[in-house]
Amino acid sequence: MTSQTLREARKYEETVEKSIAREERPDFHLCSRVGWMNDPNGFSYHNGMYHMFYQYYPYESKWGPMHWGHAVSRDLLHWEHLPAALAPDEPYDRDGCFSGSALTLPDGRQLLMYTSVVKERQENDTIRDIQTQSLAIGDGIDYEKYEKNPVLDAAELPVGGSKFDFRDPKIWRNADGTYSCIAGNCLADGDGRILLFTSKDGFQWKFRSILVSNDHRFGKMWECPDFFMLNGKWVLLTSPQDMLPKGFEYHNGNGTLCLIGTFDEQTGTFQEENNQSIDYGIDFYAPQTVLAPDGRRIMIGWMQNWDTCTMRSPDAPWMGQMSLPRELSVHGGRLYQTPVREIDAMRCNKVVHKQISFTDTIRLEGIKGRCIDMELTLRRGDSQVLYQKFAVRFAQNDTYHTALSFRPRESILKIDRKFSGSRRAIIHQRRSLVNSTDGSLKLRIILDCFSAEVFVNDGEQVLTATMYTDQTADGISFFADGTVEMDVVKYDLL
Ligand code: FRU
Repeated sequence: MTSQTLREARKYEETVEKSIAREERPDFHLCSRVGWMNDPNGFSYHNGMYHMFYQYYPYESKWGPMHWGHAVSRDLLHWEHLPAALAPDEPYDRDGCFSGSALTLPDGRQLLMYTSVVKERQENDTIRDIQTQSLAIGDGIDYEKYEKNPVLDAAELPVGGSKFDFRDPKIWRNADGTYSCIAGNCLADGDGRILLFTSKDGFQWKFRSILVSNDHRFGKMWECPDFFMLNGKWVLLTSPQDMLPKGFEYHNGNGTLCLIGTFDEQTGTFQEENNQSIDYGIDFYAPQTVLAPDGRRIMIGWMQNWDTCTMRSPDAPWMGQMSLPRELSVHGGRLYQTPVREIDAMRCNKVVHKQISFTDTIRLEGIKGRCIDMELTLRRGDSQVLYQKFAVRFAQNDTYHTALSFRPRESILKIDRKFSGSRRAIIHQRRSLVNSTDGSLKLRIILDCFSAEVFVNDGEQVLTATMYTDQTADGISFFADGTVEMDVVKYDLL
């Protein structure tokens, strides 16, 4: 039975969506159907389609009582909106259906697990969220909440675990037919950890182990965890709140963390070998992965940062986009990300410029656009003197531009959206230490109307930023201080 709350949300989104013109949305990045979107939820492959649910407040372009929005796609690039899947309509989730995940049960039904939130007045009179985990079962469009919800609550928390911060379950089915779930939790002092739970049937859950503890290293509460094996290593993705920067890592406060290591099945614990940021730009948070039918591990993140939400006006008809789906791999203890290969089918109007040598600002024939896939290969252009700086400006007109600049002597790549339409005193730049010898660097820049995603050195690093500027700002120019030699291969994405 669909509740009144969900029926209203479905009716509202269907009506209001009609007032948003096609050109007001990105081309191939999923954005909120109407109103607000944050974290990807329930990213899964079910009945021949990729499903993406998301944290959703349809009624305003700002965060509010969380629903789950829903969209499906065959190629991860063309998305079709479906009716909202969940609304906060039960006594145990009346203040929000927070983030969670999905899987397909052996009988073909789709199982969603999400964080059910209720606000409760405490003895000291403060009002806090009580967070538990709940289930909904459905056919890919309509979902029924499980009668025994919540299925995980404070009773299953290990000693010291906070019932106020217990959220974002990621569930999967193991090869032996049992189920696992990980969720974020913290101790009374706010220090994060990831808990592991098990289930025989996906419905009855019990605590297994503390998979990994922060021990005050990376921020505080760890949100939206994901855990999987890739290229012989175990990978834990999580989004810690309130991180402090370390060198050139973790500059985003609410940032992303990738831990690579091993998993001890006996004790249910993870041993970390390497750590890194997942994204080195500004707008990327709470990523979730899916295992594609062909074995690829594909990740999508919320292409936004909590602290820069005011980049977009609250009057905008939608707020929040998902990142490009990225294929993941691990080499030499590092996470690599490349744009999902399905994007190759969208490439057209190829323009190539080889061995362009320049010492000032240049523009190149056929190089412009806001929906493009552009590969730049940089080399030093003078064997005597290494160049000082290279820059590319895109989404450019007289008022606006977004820029990438590279200083080979320091090996620093900077993304800068100071001139990308913001009227607020928020962060507009990120510097990142990249791998470069002798001025060489490879950049693949993907633009889609309101975003730029920059894949460095075949996916060794990625820098993501949104830019909400006029689409007529579609110029691209290049700049060198010193002599740069560059190859450009550019496609329009259609
Ligand atoms: C992360 C997060 C999650 C939570 C959701 C609420 O961005 O804070 O931890 O489930 O957003 O919308």
